[in-house]
Amino acid sequence: MKIDGKTKIYGILGDPIKQVATPELMNSIFKKNGENKVLIPFHVNQVSLELTIQGLKKIQNFKGAVITMPHKVEILKYLDETSDEVKMIGACNVIKRTPEGIIKGELLDGKGFIQGLKSNNHFVESKRVFLLGCGGAASAIAFALCENKIQKLSIFNRTKSKAMKLIDKLTKAYPNIDISYSDNVSNDLNILINGTSVGMKESDKPLLSLSNLNSNTLVADIIISPEMTCTLKQATQKGCQIHKGIAMLEGQIKLMNEFMN
Ligand code: ATR
Repeated sequence: MKIDGKTKIYGILGDPIKQVATPELMNSIFKKNGENKVLIPFHVNQVSLELTIQGLKKIQNFKGAVITMPHKVEILKYLDETSDEVKMIGACNVIKRTPEGIIKGELLDGKGFIQGLKSNNHFVESKRVFLLGCGGAASAIAFALCENKIQKLSIFNRTKSKAMKLIDKLTKAYPNIDISYSDNVSNDLNILINGTSVGMKESDKPLLSLSNLNSNTLVADIIISPEMTCTLKQATQKGCQIHKGIAMLEGQIKLMNEFMN
């Protein structure tokens, strides 16, 4: 990798930072595209976030950064401009510095998930979708699904009250979509998505019984490791097509590169 005076600098801000896969993925895209850019991991703790952002604003060849745990919510205080998605979910996972030193925030979890599906020729418009979970990532996916005009959304979450709050927000924003709480995976679904962290441990079991799953249902996960989660394993046994978690990260990486350009 060539680094010279014209190299555009990108970062990923997190704590801890050793585990992140983004630098490798993003730098290989820069290399493949022949772009004079580099993305560097920055280990920044929560108390230093404000000063870090102030400093980055002043660095003229700093173009943007991926924001990861634990800064995705805290960063909102230091943004000059935010997208609708950031406002709706209250989290941000990528920032861009304009030539004037303005910091803009975007949240690409949901759009990245949709992009990952598209890259594998799966489309959500008019589909009946079941979503497990309503944390940060799942909420962003729920908004992106509605934004992309699905027909029906059923949501289940361990803590029902959290799901009901999300359903209330979504119903107000998308009155034409059939959105409801469900604890029963029906046999007429087009897509089922595990948007929870259930499946990260080898000993995990799917959050709900998948015994009714139809073999025509596409089953997606957002967990990257293990690649074959308990949900995807059971879906395969039911004869369903599966969509692995890595696709969402790849989708996000593509969109992040476009956003920070
Ligand atoms: P992320 O930012 O990765 O989405 P999060 O906001 O902490 O993380 O959300 C985690 C999601 O996984 C939530 O839907 C959570 O359910 P609760 O709202 O009930 O906490 C779900 N989750 C995590 N561990 C779980 C478990 N052991 N069983 C069921 N659901 C779990």
